[in-house]
Amino acid sequence: MIKNFFNISDLDKEKILTILKSEKKSKSLQNKHIGLLFEKYSTRTRLSFAVGISDLGGNVIDIRLDDLNISRNESFEDTFRAMDCYLDGLIYRTSDHQKLVEAAKYFNKPIINALSDISHPCQALSDLFTIQEHFNSLEVNILWMGDMNNVCYSLVEAANIINDMNLIICSPKSIINEKNWHKNTNVNFTNDLSNIDLSKINCVMTDVFVSMNDEESNEKVSVLKSYSVDSELMSKTSEKCIFMHCLPAKIGLEVSEEVFRSNQSIVWRQAYNRMVLQKKLLQFINW
Ligand code: CP
Ligand code: NVA
Repeated sequence: MIKNFFNISDLDKEKILTILKSEKKSKSLQNKHIGLLFEKYSTRTRLSFAVGISDLGGNVIDIRLDDLNISRNESFEDTFRAMDCYLDGLIYRTSDHQKLVEAAKYFNKPIINALSDISHPCQALSDLFTIQEHFNSLEVNILWMGDMNNVCYSLVEAANIINDMNLIICSPKSIINEKNWHKNTNVNFTNDLSNIDLSKINCVMTDVFVSMNDEESNEKVSVLKSYSVDSELMSKTSEKCIFMHCLPAKIGLEVSEEVFRSNQSIVWRQAYNRMVLQKKLLQFINW
């Protein structure tokens, strides 16, 4: 059991595997009041948590940022101290990862990171579940194409922990150099697809070129254009290769319409599994 969940690295391999295989216990959140605080847009994360919490017998409090006194200059500290008086836990999406760390100083109950500028651990955990469900194994070779963002970072953390999984990140040199993430034997980085033996790839993943936290940049999009996932790329991968995307997608940019709507694309199962995984995760939190 854990208290806060900010990054995949808050878990070890044993804990991850325990969460993935856990069964639903229907009343596990009975009498628990859990707040959803989202500073940024969300469809899947907000809804899957809301339904997941209700399904486990908990009470969901949808906190509207604009309605809080923090919008009238009550301090961040006092806002989280006040929430601590009433809530048993928080699901918090923020544009600044440091705010999660700061919030935990004043809010003494569990906080789950529902996406920050640098980390999206619930997505990565759920994607591990989807991969295991599909291949009946986590021994897969994943190719991540495009931007190196919060989702990619959590996937790298997951691959570092699940060492039977191989991950190759294919991204422009400027982005790889800027991020400078820790290399591991099973996590590799390249800016050139021709360096990769695509016939061994079982799963191609991508995400938007411009994340919510990024400034719109035509320059970044044009650098990333040659890293989009299309049918030509997919045709060179292994026979049963799947395509995954955390969504929302910009079809025609990071992925072609043909790939997005193909039989290889499991994006809707992936989205559905967000709810399956949220329930497993919620049961692993020490409320
Ligand atoms: N994948 C994901 O987190 O989607 P939302 O932004 O819609 O929650
Ligand atoms: N990288 C994306 C993920 C959205 C779920 C973003 O931060 O906007």
